[in-house]
Amino acid sequence: AWSQVAQGPPDAILGITEAFKKDSNPKKINLGVGAYRDDKGKPYVLPSVKEAEQKVVQANLDKEYAGITGVPDFAKAAALLAYGPDSAALKEGRIAITQSISGTGALRIGGAFLQRHYPGAKTIYIPTPSWANHKAVFSDSGLEIKQYRYYNKDTIGLDFDGMVADIKAMPKGSIILLHACAHNPTGVDPTEEQWRAISDAVKQGDHFPFFDMAYQGFASGDTNKDAFALRYFIEQGHYPVLAQSFAKNMGLYGERVGAFSIVTASPEEKARVDSQIKILVRPLYSNPPVHGARIASTILNDSALNKQWLGEVKGMADRIIKMRALLKENLEKLGSKHNWDHITSQIGMFAYTGLTPEQMTKLAEEHSVYATKDGRISVAGITSENVGRLAEAIYKVKG
Ligand code: LMR
Repeated sequence: AWSQVAQGPPDAILGITEAFKKDSNPKKINLGVGAYRDDKGKPYVLPSVKEAEQKVVQANLDKEYAGITGVPDFAKAAALLAYGPDSAALKEGRIAITQSISGTGALRIGGAFLQRHYPGAKTIYIPTPSWANHKAVFSDSGLEIKQYRYYNKDTIGLDFDGMVADIKAMPKGSIILLHACAHNPTGVDPTEEQWRAISDAVKQGDHFPFFDMAYQGFASGDTNKDAFALRYFIEQGHYPVLAQSFAKNMGLYGERVGAFSIVTASPEEKARVDSQIKILVRPLYSNPPVHGARIASTILNDSALNKQWLGEVKGMADRIIKMRALLKENLEKLGSKHNWDHITSQIGMFAYTGLTPEQMTKLAEEHSVYATKDGRISVAGITSENVGRLAEAIYKVKG
């Protein structure tokens, strides 16, 4: 029955892991997928997560279904983490929220909700470039994808003027996807000043903001600071939707813990929106898994564990910052004539090296260094031990 099925390409990000696994070089380095590693290059289970998991096990809970929107204590705490204790929308009970299958699932619910209920054009504008999966998630949700300028490859920084000009040129009422912090793949974020201007431009166009916040805590090490853009937009009278992931900031990758929320105008509107979220989720996957959400909920709702967790997030962010500095230092020591300042000025989990797809292929084939073809490297995969070899490999392919 499937003779007509064409061979598809490997996934732009997860395909890198497959290629890495096939390489027999013992010194191989995987900087593809954004997954945090400790300084020994090992996956890291946060101590707060281990402790919370113990508590969950000790509580001896049953394995009944969660409701369609998931574990209520988790969703409530996730909203508090994103919107903050001072959020009027939260206090007034105007935020509809559902647990989701991590960030991707949240984006997909959001895409489907907008496709079904957004009164304007079903087009979403995403930045150039954006996370490699955004296009597929939104087009599979039935939205049309368009792009706005974001990254300036000459300055290896934000194309702020281009971005604002493109926002101003969008048809009134367009949906715009914004990375709340730690832009993936570039590691280039607007400053707070620039966010204010972006908010104005979005408002002028009567556009609809969709925030993707997959790295809260990873940009600055401070979860409140990283929520600045989202909270500022709401203060300015926007009613955004939000996708949250706990994959990175709690290291709960495979547990698939996330949330999707909608800021509405009133509790009554929220109730109607809630009902439609349920109608949408039920045929998709019925209800989400409970274990990871219970872990996240335990961390978020226990003040001592919460504090410990925030310290661990900061620890991860700090190790990444250290690796950025080491990589740059090593490249300079080798005598590289290029300017590598962007390695340390970019933030979050990734560095956008400026290497071409051909150079990235060479890195993999000749040096067993694996990362996505767009030149993005996951700094979280760099260690004190492999940074020297990595710098040499980059120096050899780029100079
Ligand atoms: C990444 O960009 O590497 C991460 O968001 C993981 C993924 O699912 O692609």
